[in-house]
Amino acid sequence: MLEALGAEDGLGGLGEEVWIEVIRKMDEVYNDLLQYEVALEEKNAALEESQRFVMSVLSSMSDILVVCDHDGRIEEVNPSLQACSGDTPERLIGRPMFELFADDGSRAAAERMFTGHGDRSVHDCELNLRAADGGAMPVSLNCTPRFNHAGARVGMVVTGRPVGELRKAYQALREAHEDLQKTQQQLLHAEKMASLGRLVAGVAHELNNPISFVLGNVHALQRYTGRLERYLAAIHGGAPAEALAGLRAELRIDHLLADLPSLIEGTVEGAERTRDIVDSLKRFSAVDRNAFQAFNLTDVIERAVHWVSKAASDGFRVDMDIPEGINVFGSPGQMQQVIMNLVQNACDATAGQPERVLRIHAARVGNRVEVRFHDSGPGIPEDSLAHVFEPFFTTKPVGQGTGLGLAISYGIVERHDGRLSAGNHPDGGAEFVMTMPLARP
Ligand SMILES: Nc1ncnc2c1ncn2[C@@H]1O[C@H](COP(=O)(O)OP(=O)(O)O)[C@@H](O)[C@H]1O
Ligand SMILES: [Mg+2]
Repeated sequence: MLEALGAEDGLGGLGEEVWIEVIRKMDEVYNDLLQYEVALEEKNAALEESQRFVMSVLSSMSDILVVCDHDGRIEEVNPSLQACSGDTPERLIGRPMFELFADDGSRAAAERMFTGHGDRSVHDCELNLRAADGGAMPVSLNCTPRFNHAGARVGMVVTGRPVGELRKAYQALREAHEDLQKTQQQLLHAEKMASLGRLVAGVAHELNNPISFVLGNVHALQRYTGRLERYLAAIHGGAPAEALAGLRAELRIDHLLADLPSLIEGTVEGAERTRDIVDSLKRFSAVDRNAFQAFNLTDVIERAVHWVSKAASDGFRVDMDIPEGINVFGSPGQMQQVIMNLVQNACDATAGQPERVLRIHAARVGNRVEVRFHDSGPGIPEDSLAHVFEPFFTTKPVGQGTGLGLAISYGIVERHDGRLSAGNHPDGGAEFVMTMPLARP
């Protein structure tokens, strides 16, 4: 064939080798073409694979997804959006994005957001989408600009999540939280009432004594008054001397006169005692109960012990070893609540023990004061130790313990820059240790 071609063309001048060379080149080109085709097919397969991957991700997204161009026209939507809006991609693609919205307000907001030429993202913007049934569906939208390979902004990617579910869950959470807060308030109140109850019991016990002897004395004075009236009436009536002497003996006027000073003295003492009790109560319940001030911790401990042990059942004793005048800074009323609770807990813990003692030992350690409360009770079981400061932890029967005493006390001591810890003493019984800074002189 080569020879024939050469002859027909009349290109006999060209040698055979030239033709062979041309054919070789053509072969090479053909081979290259084949290789390109294989490579192209491989690339195509990879592209299809990655497109399938992207599509599968888009279809399994429960959030809605809309891609739009920089004029806000829809370029792509995912199946979630189709399900929401009830429209097919054919009907959606090319339409303005803001047509997806249910009301004018949402449409206006969307138009501002999606057609802007800025490159700012929008987060959690709540708008109403037009639902398949024609109603409005609130969604929380996020919107991020999309850029091409050259870095130019070409549109927006919008994702959204229906907020109905979120809101329902949030509402339920908030209600539960409010209920808890209410219960907590009630329990705090219960603990306050319990400590108030203890205080009132102590005060009642304390007042009982002086008031009953003031009352006894006043009754005696009343009787004496009657006898004195009779005797004075006889004198003023001019009764003879013997009759008067007889009446004086009968009415025991001399005894009465001798008794008067001690009766009056006793009454005054009882009244003074009552006044002192009322004074210390006033101090306890002062309006500035919660105000921070410099105060004497020794006095507060003594007062707290006094009130609790007055109300405590018999046989409970508190031994105190506390230096005079420990000056600290804080709220005396709150500190008193802490100490009353510690003393009350010791009193409860020692119930039924042969010896019921609480030893309170205080000492200055550097620039702090350390107060130890060691009782003769059974101590705190190992597995309770980690929990005693937790709110609502109590081992007492319902109605007797709120489990808030130590939790509240812990908070109060912390606010005083102090520490409260619980443990067991090597000699048995629980030991609570409270430390707090001394007031600077
Ligand atoms: N001195 C103590 N000895 C033994 N256990 C104690 C002592 N003080 C407190 N506890 C334990 O800590 C729990 C919590 O105390 P608290 O917070 O005051 O609440 P409550 O007195 O209402 O039970 C008590 O129920 C008790 O189990
Ligand atoms: Mg308690």
